[in-house]
Amino acid sequence: MADLRFGIIGAGNVGVGTSRGDSFMGLLAGLPGAAVTAIHDIAPGNAERAAKLAGAQPFSELEPFLESGLDAVVVCSPIIFHAEQSVAALERDIHVLSEVPAVHSTEAARQLASAAARSNGHYMLAENYCYLDEIELVRRLARDGRFGEVYFAEGEYVHDCRDLWVDAEGKPTWRGLGKNAVGPGVYCTHSLGPLLFILQDRVVQVSALANESNLVAEGRPGSFNFIMLMRTAGGRTLKVRVDTVSPRPHQAAYYSLQGTAGAYESWRGLEDEPKIWLSDEHEESHCFESAAWHPLMTYASRYIPERLAVGDEARAGGHGTSEYWMVREFIAAIQRDEPPPIGVHEGLDYTLPGISAVESASAGGEDVTVPDPRGM
Ligand SMILES: NC(=O)c1ccc[n+]([C@@H]2O[C@H](COP(=O)([O-])OP(=O)(O)OC[C@H]3O[C@@H](n4cnc5c(N)ncnc54)[C@H](O)[C@@H]3O)[C@@H](O)[C@H]2O)c1
Repeated sequence: MADLRFGIIGAGNVGVGTSRGDSFMGLLAGLPGAAVTAIHDIAPGNAERAAKLAGAQPFSELEPFLESGLDAVVVCSPIIFHAEQSVAALERDIHVLSEVPAVHSTEAARQLASAAARSNGHYMLAENYCYLDEIELVRRLARDGRFGEVYFAEGEYVHDCRDLWVDAEGKPTWRGLGKNAVGPGVYCTHSLGPLLFILQDRVVQVSALANESNLVAEGRPGSFNFIMLMRTAGGRTLKVRVDTVSPRPHQAAYYSLQGTAGAYESWRGLEDEPKIWLSDEHEESHCFESAAWHPLMTYASRYIPERLAVGDEARAGGHGTSEYWMVREFIAAIQRDEPPPIGVHEGLDYTLPGISAVESASAGGEDVTVPDPRGM
């Protein structure tokens, strides 16, 4: 089978942001079955820099880029462009792997869901945290019934990202206060996505509270430190905290699960590590004699042996090996012509609660019904 011809949208501002375009370029260059043939960036310098590195063709306009003979695109532009650029590719039956979040508004969600339904191209949300080793291990333990019935789960993205608001010359970036400032949704897919990926569930209702950004970032309007309380279609309770502003040590991938037969929590800091307690294997849980935590990773050799065996080439995309496993699944779905594991409905399930959460927080924490993308 011929290599899939990939195009990257949004090469990345090297030295300013995290440059997701570069991460995907590096990863795709080392993967069998894929070749990067075109780069589109509205900043011609960024397109040319990346194209030279990849041995690809640079484009500063979207249309000729999409007409350059592509099989798939990776959308790595600022958030407000994700939906319209994904739609433009899907309308040409080009497969789409889109950076997170999937959309910045409910209307954009409708347009994306409708374009994906009409297209012969596959859409996948690039929610890389779903592919972290820790999440895959917990997912397989849950699938094996080790936690019993899971009725409560938590996620937290706590990451001081204020340095990304300005570029090297002190001008606002798209994450800063410019006209393309981050859209109205909470950046919740890294926290909520893995929970829904494990539980195969969706959020139906959210209530959220937040603090005023002025509290820690003088002159910046809006809200930060969102606490989202959610009810799922499966009757579960979820809690997610997203804070990209507070000055403090990071933990951007904190998760916990509580089931009828077991519990799990990620590391918190210092000497801590991910931990688990399982009723079928560990001490009993009592009021005066507490059950004890046990290291989660002792289950890795049994549940995720292929993750332990993979070589350093799998680290090219960053975030551990998560991007490597994610992109492999995207390519496999295209090759088999099967729906990707995080398709448009799942991608919107991870994204839309963040949009409803802003509505809820601005109404003092009122319950807001989260739209179901399957009905859009
Ligand atoms: N999954 C993750 O772990 C993760 C981490 C960081 C960022 N992200 C997401 O990745 C995306 C890119 O983030 P980044 O840190 O690489 O940003 P960045 O600022 O480094 O790169 C964005 C690039 O897009 C270009 N651009 C701007 N508007 C464009 C348009 N309309 N069309 C084409 N190109 C355009 C810019 O010139 C720049 O080169 C964002 O959507 C962000 O939410 C995801």
